[in-house]
Amino acid sequence: MLTPQPGPDTNAWRVHHDARAGVWVDEFDGRWLIQTQRPEFPRHWAEARPEHVQSIYWKGREKTASAVPEKMWGDSQNDPFTVTENGARFVIDFSAGYSPGIFLDQRENRKRVRDAVAPGERVLNTFAYTGAFSVMAALGGAETTTLDLSARYLDWGWDNFRANNLDPDQHHGVKGDAFEWLRTFARKGRSFHGIVLDPPTFSRGSKKGKKVFKTDEDYAELVSLAAGVVEPGGWILCCANTHRMSAGSFEKEVARGMREANSRDFRLTRHSMPSEFRGDDYLKTVWVDVS
Ligand SMILES: C[S@@+](CC[C@H](N)C(=O)[O-])C[C@H]1O[C@@H](n2cnc3c(N)ncnc32)[C@H](O)[C@@H]1O
Repeated sequence: MLTPQPGPDTNAWRVHHDARAGVWVDEFDGRWLIQTQRPEFPRHWAEARPEHVQSIYWKGREKTASAVPEKMWGDSQNDPFTVTENGARFVIDFSAGYSPGIFLDQRENRKRVRDAVAPGERVLNTFAYTGAFSVMAALGGAETTTLDLSARYLDWGWDNFRANNLDPDQHHGVKGDAFEWLRTFARKGRSFHGIVLDPPTFSRGSKKGKKVFKTDEDYAELVSLAAGVVEPGGWILCCANTHRMSAGSFEKEVARGMREANSRDFRLTRHSMPSEFRGDDYLKTVWVDVS
């Protein structure tokens, strides 16, 4: 069964999600990207495509994360193209490997960020990848700071700003380690109204040999660093991509991080994934409102 398009101003979404069978199909404005657990292309999916689908790419999950998907049917997608999500535009590149440019499971969180900001508020997007959260905050009128270890992803982020007629010169980019920068911002007295925390499951930071960050063990520390630079009345969006933690234990870790930062007055709201991903709630989301 195919999940219908989530709305008229969204043309990128998960068309099929079946973790048990190990088949995931994403649509990017008439192009399908199929991922499978098994190393064979599921040919019946190519036959099941609706008429408007012009090309089908495939990536087996046994390949390295950076492997590029292969074209299996239809037009080649050698050049980047843009998709629309809740009216925002994002640049997609099937030849980039790792991920084509946005994580579709974050659609509702991106909208939450755009809806939460007021013009002129400062928003910090850590582990930003291609800056999709920054774009949504900027569309809401925020002055954004986009932080990632990778210069290439920061540049991709600026392309996303331009795709939305947003001027990169009005925003900030920081290349570096989120943990180090959160400490630096606190030392310098820099603060933000909103902060997005969406780290990878493991991260080593910018220097070799540094302690490895593990979502399951170290999330509270990350939250407490963010709590040190969030303004009173602001918010922290906490996300974690992990099967190993329940939504309840993730929420407890977030609360522990807030208390470690001596922040007593806060309210937590748990959110689930977009409906087409349900049944496999690996993405944990807790929104923290700080008093
Ligand atoms: C899972 S992606 C984040 C997805 C992103 N939040 C989004 O919504 O598209 C992980 C990103 O974190 C970055 N990263 C990994 N370790 C980091 C660190 N210690 N400091 C800053 N960025 C880091 C990677 O370069 C990558 O772009």
